[in-house]
Amino acid sequence: MQVTRSQISLFLCLLSCASVIGARYTPDWTSLDSRPLPGWYDEVKFGIFVHWGVFSVPAFGSEWFWWNWKGAHDFKYILYMVKNYPPGFSYADFAPDFHAQFFDPDAWAEIFEASGAKYVVLTSKHHEGFTNWESPTSWNWNSVDNGPHRDLVGDLGNAVRKRSLHYGLYHSLYEWFNPLYLSDKQSGFKTQEYVARKAMPELYDLVNRYKPDLIWSDGDWEAPDTYWNSTEFLAWLYNDSPVKDIVVVNDRWGNGCYCKHGGYYNCADKFSPGELPKHKWEKCQSVDTISWGYRRNMKLSELMDLPALIKDLVYTVALGGNYLLNVGPTADGVIAPVFEERLRGIGAWLQINGEAIYATSSWRVQAENATVPVWYTSKNSTVYAIFTSSPNQNTFELSAPKTSDNTVVTLLGNPKPLKWAPLHSSGLILLLPDLPFSPAQAWTLKLEGVA
Ligand SMILES: *[C@@H]1O[C@H](CO)[C@@H](O)[C@H](O)[C@H]1NC(C)=O
Ligand SMILES: *[C@@H]1O[C@H](CO)[C@@H](O)[C@H](O)[C@H]1NC(C)=O
Ligand SMILES: *[C@@H]1O[C@H](CO)[C@@H](O)[C@H](O)[C@H]1NC(C)=O
Repeated sequence: MQVTRSQISLFLCLLSCASVIGARYTPDWTSLDSRPLPGWYDEVKFGIFVHWGVFSVPAFGSEWFWWNWKGAHDFKYILYMVKNYPPGFSYADFAPDFHAQFFDPDAWAEIFEASGAKYVVLTSKHHEGFTNWESPTSWNWNSVDNGPHRDLVGDLGNAVRKRSLHYGLYHSLYEWFNPLYLSDKQSGFKTQEYVARKAMPELYDLVNRYKPDLIWSDGDWEAPDTYWNSTEFLAWLYNDSPVKDIVVVNDRWGNGCYCKHGGYYNCADKFSPGELPKHKWEKCQSVDTISWGYRRNMKLSELMDLPALIKDLVYTVALGGNYLLNVGPTADGVIAPVFEERLRGIGAWLQINGEAIYATSSWRVQAENATVPVWYTSKNSTVYAIFTSSPNQNTFELSAPKTSDNTVVTLLGNPKPLKWAPLHSSGLILLLPDLPFSPAQAWTLKLEGVA
C-alpha cells in the first residue's frame, strides 16, 4: 500500500494536534467566554490605574482635551487655547512638552506597592493615539521619537515587576483623529484599513514585547467587534501568545460587548452594581472625580478623601469586584503628593485590614445595617464585617451571622477577643473596645466559627 506524503502529515497532525485542539479557543464569543479567568486576578482585589499621555501637558479639563477642543468644539477649551497659546498651535505641539524629566519608575512602583495594590495598569495609548512605547506603526507619534524620548511602558513595567506587582496595559482601540480610522468610519466600518495597519499590529506588538498580565481594552464603542477583529485577537491571545495562561482582559471589545463578553466586566466607567453580580467585575474609579488625566486646576473638594476611597474599595470587594483606582501623573513624571498621600493611606489601612480584602469571596449576605452599615467578605469559615462609620455606642449588633459555641470575634488591630452574646432571633451582640485611631474611618470585625 502506497502512503502519500500528505497522508503522513495528516496522520502526524492528528497525533500531535489532537491534544491541543481540545484546549483551543475559537474566534467566537461562546468559545472565548468559556475561558476560566486566571486565578490571580480575583485574589489581588486592588490595582492602580495610571492615565498618562500628551493630555497631561495641557492638563486642563480632562484627558479628553483634544476631543473637547477640536471634536466637540467646547467653548471652554477654545477660549483656553486662544488666551494662552499662539494662533495655529496644534495638539501635536503639546507633545515636545511631555518631558517626564522627573519620571522615576521605581519611585512610582514604591508608591503603588505601599498602597497595597497588587497590579498596575498604564495607558499604553489613549484615544489621542500617542503611544507610550516605540510602536513601529505610530510614525513619530510616540514617546521614544517625541516628548520624553523614553520607553515609558517598558520602564514602568520593569519597575513594577521588580516589586512583584502584576503589570497591565490599557489600550484604546480607536483614535479620535487618525485618518485611517476616520476613513473606515466613513465607509460605515466596511473597510478595515485602520485595524489592519494600526490597531491590531499595535496590540500584538504590546503583547509580544511587554507580556502584560492584563489588557484593559477601551475605545471600542463606535464599531462592532467584527470591525475590530477582537475575537481573532483574543483567540490568539488565549491560544498562542506568550501570556496565554496568565493574561486577563476586560470587556470592551466592540459595540455591545461590555457587561456581556470578554474576561472580567468593567461595564461602564465607575460601574457600581446594586447587588452581587454573577460575573467577575472591576470598578474603575479616579481619585480626581472630574478627570482620569492630571489636571493642573483640580481642587481638593473634587478629590475623593481617604474614607470615601476605603468605602468604595470595601463595597466593591464585598460585591465580588476588584477596585482599580486611578491617579494621573503630571507631564513632568510626578505623582502629585496629594495622590501619593491617598495611596499610602489605603496601604496603611490594608496593613491592618488586608486579610478582610485579599483573596476573600463575597459572603452569603453582602451588607446589613443593624447598628451601622456593614459590608461582609469571607474566607473559608471566617467572615469579616467591615464598618465605615463609628457607632456612637460600645455595643454592636450583627444580624446575619449564625453563631456557635466556637465563635470567636476579634477587631482587627486589637489583640483581645471581644465579648459577645447570641441574639434571641439570630445574630449576635458584641462589646466593642475603644476603636483604634483610623484615618480611613473603617474597622473590621473578624468572626470565626460562624455560618
Ligand atoms: C479579520 O479577520 C478576518 C477573519 O479571520 C480576516 O479575513 C481579516 O483579514 C481580518 N482583518 C484584519 C484587518 O485583520
Ligand atoms: C442605616 O440605618 C440607619 C438607622 O436606621 C439609617 O439612618 C441609615 O440611613 C442606614 N444606612 C444605610 C446605608 O442603609
Ligand atoms: C481556604 O480555602 C481555599 C480554597 O477556597 C483553600 O485553598 C485553602 O487551603 C483554605 N484555607 C484554609 C486555612 O482552610
